[in-house]
Amino acid sequence: MKLAYDIRKTYLENYQSGPDLPKPTASSLVREQKDFFGTKIDSRLGIAAGLLLNSKWLLAYADLGYDLLTYKTVRSAYRPCYPPPNWVFIESDADHPETRVTALEQLPTDPLQTSSSVCFGMPSMDPDTWRQDIVQIRNRLPSGKALIVSVVGTPNSETAPERQIETLAKDFAQCAEWAVDAGAQVVEANFSCPNVCTKEGSIYMDPNLSRTIAEQIKARIPKVPLLIKAGNFPDSSTLGDFLKATDDFVDGIALLNGMSREVRHRDGRPVYGVDKLTAGILGRMVHKTAIAKVRQAVQTIEEFDLSLKILAVGGVSCPNDIQDFLDAGADAIMLGSAPMYIPHLAEEAKQALPDL
Ligand SMILES: Cc1cc2nc3c(=O)[nH]c(=O)nc-3n(C[C@H](O)[C@H](O)[C@H](O)COP(=O)(O)O)c2cc1C
Repeated sequence: MKLAYDIRKTYLENYQSGPDLPKPTASSLVREQKDFFGTKIDSRLGIAAGLLLNSKWLLAYADLGYDLLTYKTVRSAYRPCYPPPNWVFIESDADHPETRVTALEQLPTDPLQTSSSVCFGMPSMDPDTWRQDIVQIRNRLPSGKALIVSVVGTPNSETAPERQIETLAKDFAQCAEWAVDAGAQVVEANFSCPNVCTKEGSIYMDPNLSRTIAEQIKARIPKVPLLIKAGNFPDSSTLGDFLKATDDFVDGIALLNGMSREVRHRDGRPVYGVDKLTAGILGRMVHKTAIAKVRQAVQTIEEFDLSLKILAVGGVSCPNDIQDFLDAGADAIMLGSAPMYIPHLAEEAKQALPDL
């Protein structure tokens, strides 16, 4: 298996070198364009926040046929990445199936069955750097594609407790405004991160907080479509409350982020260090859960006549997985980890699913 992101190297090394990718193979098929929040796109297939670290990564994957391109989550100030390892392939732990996974010592052999875990800590370049980089993307991104920029607010530990929510919401809104000024066609506010312990990692679990922050962001970018990235809801009522609470200010939900699990070596040692026992798991292991959550979300949207669109994320590595999400009612399909080790997936999917 050849990897576009070198998991033995640091985030910064990967950021600087860009992806190690093959050339596009398929001649571009003439396709009927779709509408994505006002932008004409060649397909409803894209890459979720994560793999596209900067313009080098984003434009290289655009060339391979991915049409909805999400710039990895950025912040209002520089934040270093956790030290490596940041990305580890995994298998299930038969003794603790619900809580733990085991790191593979070697690369997996079957890309279609692969799962992995990530623990980056939502790093960010300083705003001047990512804003200039986004300008470059908009100057060079071909038509038929849409640029989504993922943003997150950063809590300020020095803020008085009664002002913390307001400060966090303002920080989200500031990042969103900068992203739009630089050229984002759609903004995604990340309300979930399985490896961040501070408030910004689990906002989606609190419907009122989600609504408050979404309202502030929307007020700052009233003309630009706003998405929220959510994590794995524990039950349908929490998911339903979240959708109903955010519907007034939000245009779509990206569902779902990596699911939180302890990641350990076979001998029990924690892979990411004793202070980071859990990380987000991705790939094959999360696909069934993601389908169920997308289906629940679509049912709630229909039942309560909400206007949200659903961007389905989780465990897609072949056209059948995409079809699962289309059958569940998703409006767009986003890939997280698979394009790293199956870079030609967009070309394959577009051949297999002409209406994608
Ligand atoms: C390398 C990597 C980094 C990620 N970083 C982010 C991030 O910064 N923000 C975010 O919302 N999701 C992030 N994710 C999660 C993905 O967007 C997606 O939700 C997750 O990978 C599940 O999809 P998958 O099963 O197709 O991989 C990251 C994923 C990967 C692979």
